[in-house]
Parts: sequence; structure tokens; C-alpha cells
Amino acid sequence: MQTAPLTRPMLTTRALRRWVPPLVRSVPALVSAYLLPGRVPPPIREASMLGVTSVNRCEACEAFHSRWASGVGLRVEAMSAEEAAAYDFGQRVATAGPEEPQPPMQLRARHRRELLAVSILMELANLSGNRFLAPRAEGGNLQVGDVRTARLLDAVMRAADRAGLRRARSRVAGRARGDTLEIGIGTGSNLEVYPAGAVVHGVDVSAPALSVAAERADRAGRRVVLVEGDAAALPFTDGSFDTVVATFVLCSVGDVERSLREARRVLRPGGTIRLLEHARSRYRPVGLVQERSAPAWARLSGGCRLDHDVRRAVRDVGLTVIEERTRIGGLLVEIVAA
Ligand SMILES: C[S@@+](CC[C@H](N)C(=O)[O-])C[C@H]1O[C@@H](n2cnc3c(N)ncnc32)[C@H](O)[C@@H]1O
Repeated sequence: MQTAPLTRPMLTTRALRRWVPPLVRSVPALVSAYLLPGRVPPPIREASMLGVTSVNRCEACEAFHSRWASGVGLRVEAMSAEEAAAYDFGQRVATAGPEEPQPPMQLRARHRRELLAVSILMELANLSGNRFLAPRAEGGNLQVGDVRTARLLDAVMRAADRAGLRRARSRVAGRARGDTLEIGIGTGSNLEVYPAGAVVHGVDVSAPALSVAAERADRAGRRVVLVEGDAAALPFTDGSFDTVVATFVLCSVGDVERSLREARRVLRPGGTIRLLEHARSRYRPVGLVQERSAPAWARLSGGCRLDHDVRRAVRDVGLTVIEERTRIGGLLVEIVAA
């Protein structure tokens, strides 16, 4: 058994650099650990994850995973030898890092890869929980309360862009035209893809995120008007814009319906709303995992809903969908609506 550090470790840009590459390499083992037949027995999987959490002491992960663990039959006070070895392995991953520890040798090679993958995933969840966990109601606005957090959000978004998201941004924001409003512009990840002719206004509840967006606009030599405000009460008059863009925002605004109605209100006749959002997968097992983790993820991330149904929300407010495209089994949705 390892000793826990005195302070709770948190997500930092350095931690992201350390843990995200091995996580990306572990994606096949993660899919295998949760979805494929012959996977590592769930109590052993959960034991390694609880081992990681015992070192990092993330309260949200502990609450969530203790429930999940008992749901799959793991009793921490009476672990089998294999479960105890997996728990110990999780602790070693959390203390030594993703490269060094050897998973229990009595397991099959495939199960050893799966244990390492879930331990890495758990480490990142723990670090995020320790950093972002705030005692707020679920489903509220994602909070980017200071410049360090804004820079961290920016680093996550840039990593996702490098992994392929940028193409989707180009299809969505890159085809904006005329006077354009981006709601929840965050740190300005779309600024580089807007066409030269678009006159971009950005609104966000987070002043620190807007300050990072302003730096980025300067670097890109792009003129942009940045305004602090809420998507559900936009500080613009009716019919001010030709295009409204939102990327990865509706999952975290408090009131999706009101935000979409506001987007429609500020559009000129003939204007379009262009959305890029993550959504519930159409593959049932993946959708179920999203649904089960949604409450915990909402707490960890500060209000982002993993299972939100953007397509339904768009139709519920009476918008007409002109184009719709789903990617990665429905995990990403691009919508153009009028
Ligand atoms: C995940 S980030 C996405 C940022 C950016 N759109 C992008 O694609 O990189 C979500 C952003 O939505 C903002 N946000 C959350 N709730 C909001 C609201 N009610 N009104 C405006 N912005 C909001 C957050 O401050 C954050 O900057």
C-alpha cells in the first residue's frame, strides 16, 4: 500500500502533458475493458480505479466509484487476492506515473493493458475532480473562474483540435458569414477558422476566458468584439447577426432552451445558427456509459452534461434543421439551423 500525498494533486497543464498521451494510446484497451466480451472482470477493474482514487482522494470520484464498485460486487473490506493486487496496482500508477508500474502478473496480457488504461483514466478524472469540484447544483454553467483555469481549458481544447476537432470547427465556424455572434466563445478556439469576411462578436460568462480569447485574437491579427454575458440573456438587440455559432457550449449552459431562443432572437431573417456539440452516442452501450457517468461528470466538470440531446433541443424550440451531421457514432453533432 502507498501513502497518499499530503495535498490533493490537481489537474495542471503539466499533468495533462503527462497523462493525456498515455490515455490516448490506451483508448483501444479502454473500449475493450468496458465493452468487449472477455474483458477484465469488473470487480478487478474497479479495484484498480479505487486504488488510484485512494491516493488522489478525489471525493466525487470516490463517491461515484464506490457506488459503481459495489454495483459490480466489489467489497473493499473483503477483497480477493486478485482484487487487492489490482487495488495496489492502481495506487502505484497514481504515485509512480503511467509508465513504471507493472500490472499484476497473474492476469492475462489483455487484462493487464485494460487495468493500466482504466487507472490512467481514473487518474485524470481524480485530478479534474480535485481541481474543478465545486459545491454547486448539477447542470449549471461551466465555470471558468480564473485565468489559470481558462488556460487549462484552452490547452484541453488545443489538444482536442490537434486530435482532429479542428476539421469540425472549420466546417461549422469556418462557414459563418457576415455579422457573426459566437456564444460561449471561451478562449477563442474558433478564431483561427472564421472566414476573413466574418465580423465576429463573442460572448461568454467567463471574463478570464475572454481575456485569453483577446490575446489569441491579437496574435492572429483578428478583430473581434468580446462581451461578458449570458447565452440565456444576450446583450444584443433583435436581428443583429447573420450567423450565430456555438461550439461545445449548449452542454454546459444552464438553460439550453432559453439560450437557443435567444440565439434565434438575435438572428436576422435568413440567418443561420451553426452548432458543434458533443452528444449522447447512438451506440447503446456507449450511450449507457454516458448516461451513467453524466451526473458525476457534471459535478467534476462544473456543469457539462455528457448525455444532453442537442438535436432534440433544437427541434423543441421550433428551429428548422437545414443540415445535420453526426460523427464518431453520434458523439459529435454538427447542426445548421434556421
Ligand atoms: C467547453 S467551453 C467551449 C469554449 C469554446 N466554444 C470552444 O469551442 O472552445 C464552454 C464555454 O461556455 C461558456 N459558458 C458556459 N455557460 C455559459 C452561458 N450561460 N453563457 C455564455 N457562456 C457560457 C464557458 O464559460 C466556457 O467558456
